[in-house]
Amino acid sequence: MTHRKVALVTGASSGIGNAIARSLHRNGVTVYAGARRVSRMNDLDDLGITTLALDVTDPISVEKVVDRIVSETGRVDILVNNAGYGLLGALEEVPMDQARDQFDVNLFGAARLIQSVLPMMRQQHSGRIINITSVDGKIAQPMASWYVASKFALEGLSDTLRLELEPLGIQTIVVEPGSIQSEWADIAADHLKATSAQGPYRPTANRAAAVLTVAKQFASQPRVIARLVDRAALSRRPKTRYHAGAGSQVLVARRFMSDKMIDHMWHVVGEAAQRFTH
Ligand SMILES: NC(=O)c1ccc[n+]([C@@H]2O[C@H](COP(=O)([O-])OP(=O)(O)OC[C@H]3O[C@@H](n4cnc5c(N)ncnc54)[C@H](OP(=O)(O)O)[C@@H]3O)[C@@H](O)[C@H]2O)c1
Repeated sequence: MTHRKVALVTGASSGIGNAIARSLHRNGVTVYAGARRVSRMNDLDDLGITTLALDVTDPISVEKVVDRIVSETGRVDILVNNAGYGLLGALEEVPMDQARDQFDVNLFGAARLIQSVLPMMRQQHSGRIINITSVDGKIAQPMASWYVASKFALEGLSDTLRLELEPLGIQTIVVEPGSIQSEWADIAADHLKATSAQGPYRPTANRAAAVLTVAKQFASQPRVIARLVDRAALSRRPKTRYHAGAGSQVLVARRFMSDKMIDHMWHVVGEAAQRFTH
């Protein structure tokens, strides 16, 4: 059994999750990294990180991963719920089964992992649950209703959990990335194109696509989020929320902006992005 802190990072085959797994490992944490594409985590294997097949939508897969960690180390100190993707497209045009899949990964997937690690964390009377939400968990954007809804929901779930788990010695922390270099933007752009590039929402979809292109161009490195997760996971008195990455400063301004100001901001940003990309 180990005396090092033990962490499970979901969605570690790419982008932010990969950077988080590396950074926690560098900081002396015993890291278990999960994703569906195990072969995409060979770089983590080479560092001595244990990589595992994990589909957060599959309860058996989740249980297997957590059982293995507990049997090998006898504890779980840190859970980083990072797995997620962006289902973009006009609400009217997104099939409901795709909407359910979005929630199954971004919200219920995180909840499955939380339910699975909590018995161990309660027994330890310690643990940290770190949920990766988004700027979109606080500020809506056009053509992203289901993604935004899933991240708003994860924010609310996290706030509730923080209160519920604090008496048990377990901390819940939210990390809100802005625009970060990863596979996220391409996956989101593909969904947007497939769903709403033609038809009645085409002008709004084109603006949203331009915003994605510009955001991708100015995106920050995944390590800026990994640094925040290190602080959330390892500092003695972590904050309840952290944000970083291109555009995330808008979260500070949001506190002083009305809904109509936010709506106006999107019109201005959308038009500017279209001019920039033409
Ligand atoms: N990049 C951004 O600009 C940005 C901004 C705000 C928030 N975020 C959030 O940050 C998190 C990480 O995204 P990223 O930017 O690093 O995107 P990414 O490069 O696309 O990585 C997403 C990760 O999630 C995993 N994943 C997806 N579905 C899964 C499932 N069912 N089970 C297990 N793993 C699954 C993927 O692995 P497999 O496909 O191999 O399973 C991949 O490792 C997401 O929650 C995203 O919403 C990203």
